Amino acid sequence: MSVLATSISGREVAKGLLVLQILNGFGFSFKADREPVPRPHVEADNNINSAAAEVKDPPMLIASPLDIKGRHFSSRTVMSPMVPNCAGEDGSVTDKYKNFYLARARARVGYIVLGGVFVHEDGKGFRQQLGIHSDALKPGLTDLAHTLGKHTRVGVQLSFKSLQKLPEHFTLVEIQRYRDAFVEAALRARDCGFDAVELHACHDYWLNYFLSPHFNHRTDEYGGSLENRFRLLREVTEGVREAVGDSMIIGVRLSMDEFVDDGLTLDETLLAGRWLEGLGVDYISASGGIGKTQDRMSPPMEVPRGSLLQFSKALKANVSIPVIGVGRLDRPDVYRDAVESGAADLAAVGRSLIADPEYVAKVLDGRDKEIRPCLACNFCLVCLHRNENVQCAVNPYVGRDLLKVEPLKDPLRVVVVGAGPAGLSAAAVAARRGARVRLIERERIPGGMLNAGKVPPNKEVIQDLIDHLVAQAEASGVEIITGHAATPSDIQSLSPDRVIVATGSTSIAVRAEGLDNNDRVVLNEDLLRFGLVLEGMSYIVVGAGAGGLEAAQYIAESGGKVTVIEMTRTLGKGLHATRLGLILRDLEKLNVRVMPGTKLLSVDGGRVEAETAEGRVSLGPFDSIVMAVGYKSEKQLARDLASEFPVATIGDAMQPRSIYEAVKEGLDAAISLDSPGASEIAG
Ligand SMILES: Cc1cc2nc3c(=O)[nH]c(=O)nc-3n(C[C@H](O)[C@H](O)[C@H](O)COP(=O)(O)OP(=O)(O)OC[C@H]3O[C@@H](n4cnc5c(N)ncnc54)[C@H](O)[C@@H]3O)c2cc1C
Ligand SMILES: Cc1cc2nc3c(=O)[nH]c(=O)nc-3n(C[C@H](O)[C@H](O)[C@H](O)COP(=O)(O)O)c2cc1C
Ligand code: SF4
Repeated sequence: MSVLATSISGREVAKGLLVLQILNGFGFSFKADREPVPRPHVEADNNINSAAAEVKDPPMLIASPLDIKGRHFSSRTVMSPMVPNCAGEDGSVTDKYKNFYLARARARVGYIVLGGVFVHEDGKGFRQQLGIHSDALKPGLTDLAHTLGKHTRVGVQLSFKSLQKLPEHFTLVEIQRYRDAFVEAALRARDCGFDAVELHACHDYWLNYFLSPHFNHRTDEYGGSLENRFRLLREVTEGVREAVGDSMIIGVRLSMDEFVDDGLTLDETLLAGRWLEGLGVDYISASGGIGKTQDRMSPPMEVPRGSLLQFSKALKANVSIPVIGVGRLDRPDVYRDAVESGAADLAAVGRSLIADPEYVAKVLDGRDKEIRPCLACNFCLVCLHRNENVQCAVNPYVGRDLLKVEPLKDPLRVVVVGAGPAGLSAAAVAARRGARVRLIERERIPGGMLNAGKVPPNKEVIQDLIDHLVAQAEASGVEIITGHAATPSDIQSLSPDRVIVATGSTSIAVRAEGLDNNDRVVLNEDLLRFGLVLEGMSYIVVGAGAGGLEAAQYIAESGGKVTVIEMTRTLGKGLHATRLGLILRDLEKLNVRVMPGTKLLSVDGGRVEAETAEGRVSLGPFDSIVMAVGYKSEKQLARDLASEFPVATIGDAMQPRSIYEAVKEGLDAAISLDSPGASEIAG
């Protein structure tokens, strides 16, 4: 990276002054440091190929093959069952669905389990879930099984989502009907050429409902003792085995612990595991959690990696059939170690394969540095729970998984302004297409707002993304110029064919009496980037969106005292429930006072007047008033350039949003530099 200008930009001077102001306001005299956040920037690889050349010794166990029921698995790697929610509304296979899996199958996943495939229309949980409930779907399923089967072993997770209807409300006739539906679905799976069926007996699905004392309050032979609660799963397993014969693999996925007081515990699921082995089940997949403890099922960044492996390990000690382990094995070392350490016979990843379809291949080859890192942000689950196609914050190719980025017809000169995720993403793809790309960044380090976003507790994963995006841009040949705020005349002097403006946004403050020229006011972004927290000082954070809550967490963990006020009743807007729940729990532990429905009216020195449903309240005094109320796009440069150059404005510069839009619009801008710039190859 080169530094064109060593002079400090006006904006940085303002920030430096702000730091001094704040610290002076606290009675301290510090030297303003213009380098944000004392975290070292890890220099990225210059070249993807050189990273590829650095191949480690092949990991022994995870790469070793395995035979189950005479079927050969090329490695111990598994794609965990996930509903991508992009099948037809009638449950049929679509190209999008097929390509989503094909991209992963080609990249050497040893075993793919198609997520939550419904066996009966009454058990359909998502609008675009895949179905296996009707013979009419068989041609599409057969094609899918054959297409994926050329590359890997494929199983169908047979599922029935019992929406809001608890076990006690099922009549014996209904039990018989849906049990039969599992058996018929398994037969279809066999006829279509799949290697395995996996019974979905976890995560609030029907078979889990019956097994779990938390959900099952029946008093007949299907409720009460574990033996009775297991009855339905036993009957389904026996029915499926009888129907499909001995050569097809049958797996079962269990929530080994439901993490609720009256739920399934390990003692019971270990026993159930032994019973399943006795019934001829060929493997057990050891998951955890239910809907209300989803933070254990798909652990967000707040939960340590590998937290569910204790269950696969315990199960392995109790059964002799293969056990699959799962749960945030999202970095290569943790992934390899899951099998290497003996915690699991096979190791499954879900979100890591959404974020990078080649996660498994790269892990097997030791190409760790090339992996596009999953952030465990659960934006994919936000999409699913909105009943939309699953998308990924860091992988803009999801939903167009076989997109081929074509070389440009003419070698265009492209200037990209701003090295946040949008600019980095655009620059890398444009350069890969053959453009001569200069990426100009005002700050001394790339990453944009992510340099503030990575600071709160548990968010170090964001640095992994910055490193990845920078490595991709550099490997593609982008010239990255840092420490220079691009002006219209800079751009004119470079005479580019295209300009991509990715200048991002800046934090805004609310307007209220007493805020102007109040030296206690600090923007959320600056608080984080400059680490403006002093132990024992008191802070009020205005705004309890994701940014406000994370800032409060950061302040409290750094020893500050915090109150958060939020005008609306909504906390943590945009965060998935798994993250929000854990952040709120953490704030409570840290004695942070969170006040929804509280509107800032005025400030007098450090005292804050606010309005609540109960009337006016006076809060404080506070040493610092942190603004976390929103952002404003930086559009001026785009406006100045629009009459002279073809300009594309992307990411927060277009509208303040999130990493997802930034990275996606970066890709879109690069593939539309000329048209058509890319083509979707059907699998
Ligand atoms: C505290 C915080 C936490 C966040 N956490 C998350 C999160 O967990 N998940 C999530 O999805 N999103 C998060 N976000 C939002 C996310 O960071 C932004 O949506 C994203 O960074 C936008 O990317 P961008 O590239 O469009 O803009 P930015 O990241 O803002 O990058 C713009 C870049 O342009 C540079 N620039 C501006 N003008 C010029 C110029 N004239 N010349 C040269 N360079 C210029 C800026 O210095 C900056 O580096 C967070 C934001 C904040 C502030
Ligand atoms: C978008 C999404 C959809 C999922 N759908 C299913 C499903 O249909 N069946 C299932 O058993 N688990 C499902 N899961 C859970 C995953 O299979 C996996 O167990 C969990 O995400 C933990 O693994 P990971 O940390 O590698 O993502 C889903 C997870 C995600 C993120
Ligand atoms: S959306 Fe977030 S959690 Fe889901 S796969 Fe992508 S990076 Fe991982």
